Amino acid sequence: MYLLIFGPPGAGKGTQSVLIAERLGIKHMSTGDVLRQAVIDGSELGLKAKEIIESGSLVSDDVMIGIIYEALKNNGMKKGFILDGFPRTIKQAAALDVLLSELGYPPIKVINIVVPEVELIKRMLGRGRNDDSEETVRHRLNIFKEQTKPILEHYSKKSKVLNIEGVGSITEINNKIIDILSSKVP
Ligand code: AP5
Ligand code: MG
Repeated sequence: MYLLIFGPPGAGKGTQSVLIAERLGIKHMSTGDVLRQAVIDGSELGLKAKEIIESGSLVSDDVMIGIIYEALKNNGMKKGFILDGFPRTIKQAAALDVLLSELGYPPIKVINIVVPEVELIKRMLGRGRNDDSEETVRHRLNIFKEQTKPILEHYSKKSKVLNIEGVGSITEINNKIIDILSSKVP
């Protein structure tokens, strides 16, 4: 399985990706986790990304595409993956198409998690990550609407997009995703 999990901040991409990766025995690649770890490590990437992440803006496309390229070359990803947090712009989506085809990956499926905005805000303010202040959350939601959501159009033309209603218990949502992934219905 070669999957991309898509949805606004707070939709449950990370929560569901961990469970899906475990159940299907595939690799979970979260660009947000990579960046947060880089900040903790104090690496060059972390120093560059810290303020951007905390403000809720996007790290540059070139940096992110470089990170994904390195990850996709890794043999661990060849057996299957779930990408979480990438792509986030049309430029990243186009670069991903090229990389996947150059590296010989099969077609991907997109899991689109849909959650109303009031619920997203409630979840993020209740979590308290460094980028979960009210102002930053609103900025992240706006960036999602302006720059990330349009990618769905890109995938609806060329990939299978599975829409999942993302309100309910974590287990219920996870079971819905696994069911739809294993369903024979095209
Ligand atoms: P990233 O880490 O990707 O954050 P995000 O997309 O803003 O989303 P979150 O991680 O906040 O939400 P999620 O959908 O994973 O939900 P979660 O499972 O955590 O990116 C962070 C930053 O890094 C970006 O702002 C940007 O600066 C940078 N970045 C990353 N990738 C980039 C890229 N490609 N290009 C440029 N910049 C990039 O759940 C949220 C909360 O809800 C949790 O508390 C969880 O416990 C709870 N929850 C989950 N499911 C449920 C449920 N069913 N019911 C109730 N609560 C639930
Ligand atoms: Mg996440």
